[in-house]
Amino acid sequence: MIRPLVIAVDGPAASGKGTIAAGLARVYGLPQLDTGLLYRAVGVAVLAKGGRLDDEGLAAQVAKTLDLTLLDIPAHRTRAAGEAASQVAVHPAVRLALLEAQQAFARQPTGAVIDGRDIGTVIAPNAIAKLFVTASPEVRAQRRWKQLSGQGETVSLAEVLEDIRIRDARDSARDSAPLTRADDAILLDTSRMTIDEAADAARRIVEAARIRSNG
Ligand code: CDP
Repeated sequence: MIRPLVIAVDGPAASGKGTIAAGLARVYGLPQLDTGLLYRAVGVAVLAKGGRLDDEGLAAQVAKTLDLTLLDIPAHRTRAAGEAASQVAVHPAVRLALLEAQQAFARQPTGAVIDGRDIGTVIAPNAIAKLFVTASPEVRAQRRWKQLSGQGETVSLAEVLEDIRIRDARDSARDSAPLTRADDAILLDTSRMTIDEAADAARRIVEAARIRSNG
C-alpha cells in the first residue's frame, strides 16, 4: 500500500522553512500546517490576558482552548509574537496540549506538509520525507529584518540578529522536544540560495525520499 506523503520541515528561526513548506504544499497539492503559529498564538493570547509567559499552567490552558481557525493573522507574525512563542514553547504542558492536533494533521489520508522544530522527531517521526532547513545566523537575520521592516516594524538588523541567537539557544537547549535534526532528515542549507533554488532543492529531496519509500 502506498503511504500518504507526509513531509516534515524543521529548522531554526527565519531559515526559510515556511516558504519551502508552502512551496512543497503547492507542488504536491497537500494541506500545510505551520506549527510555529500554534506557539505564537499561545504566547500572544497569554500576553493578551495579562499573564506571564513563564506561567506554564495558564499557557497550557490557553493551548487547550486555542481556536485553530484563527492562527494565520498579522498579530501572530510580529517580532514580539515570535519571542513570546519561544518562551511558551519550553513548557512541556503546552507542547502536550498541542500534540494531538498536530499529530491528527499528520495522519490525514491526503498526506500533509508540516513545518516547525520537532516535526521529524516528535510529531511525524514516520514522515516519508524529512528536511532540516538552515542558513547562517547573519543570512537569517537579514531575511527576518526584511520581513519585519516590510510589516512596518521598526527594528535594527543588529537587534534581529541578537533575537535569532537568543532564540536558537533557547530552542536548542530546552528539555522538551528541542530543536534537533532527526537522524534521517536531509540538511538543506539555504544561505546561498534564492527562494527558487531552495524550493527546487527541497523538491529534489522529497522526490528522492518518495522513490526510497516506494521501495
Ligand atoms: O518563523 P520563525 O522560525 O521565527 O518562528 P516559528 O516557526 O513561527 O516558531 C516560533 C517559536 O515557536 C520558535 O522559536 C519555537 O520556540 C517555537 N516552536 C516550537 O517549539 N515547536 C514547533 N514545532 C514550532 C515552533
